[in-house]
Amino acid sequence: MTASSSTPKPSRSEQPDVPLEINTSVAHPARMYDYYLGGKDNFPADREAAEKMIASAPGMRDGARQNRAFLGRSVRWLAGAGITQFLDIGTGIPTQGNTHEVAQEVAPDARVAYVDNDPIVIAHARALLSGQGQGMVTVAHADLREPDALLTDPQVLRAIDFDQPMAVLLVAILMFPQGLRGAAQDRRAARGGHAVR
Ligand SMILES: C[S@@+](CC[C@H](N)C(=O)[O-])C[C@H]1O[C@@H](n2cnc3c(N)ncnc32)[C@H](O)[C@@H]1O
Repeated sequence: MTASSSTPKPSRSEQPDVPLEINTSVAHPARMYDYYLGGKDNFPADREAAEKMIASAPGMRDGARQNRAFLGRSVRWLAGAGITQFLDIGTGIPTQGNTHEVAQEVAPDARVAYVDNDPIVIAHARALLSGQGQGMVTVAHADLREPDALLTDPQVLRAIDFDQPMAVLLVAILMFPQGLRGAAQDRRAARGGHAVR
């Protein structure tokens, strides 16, 4: 076996100095979602596409807010039930009531690994998401369609002990038409815990 074939490829999270490719001229779901929620981290292409969606589905904004409220209620309930590890896949651009804020209000030692495949989400998350109390918050640049890489990402492993009970959050991500449902059925991520989707 050659050295190059035995050397594992570094995860995306291990390459913080590699410039993140951000194409703001094409609408992206994370930034459209930010627009529905009334955020400011979106661009003209995102706003145009989001307005088209709102025109065809007028409940889109309300749906996004209700979804966010569901995420908060779920995390609060899980933390109250003793879950202190959260793998939040499809984090979205940080906004009000982020997973670690809700979880650490109930359990200050709660640990959260945020995962998203969108470089702009990662850039915002690294800047805005930090832990409170004794808990830990990490941000991983990984893709649900690559579960092996996601579940072994160093940033995920810093926060999550897969031998302990945990919750996997897949909130408002499985509707994307990219074969995500199959990836989400990977049983390793839900072992001994809860899945919210
Ligand atoms: C609608 S937002 C949901 C945000 C948050 N989970 C919530 O419920 O408020 C969907 C997020 O999923 C991310 N996403 C889409 N496909 C993904 C994939 N294959 N792997 C990881 N993240 C993905 C998008 O970048 C976006 O940030």
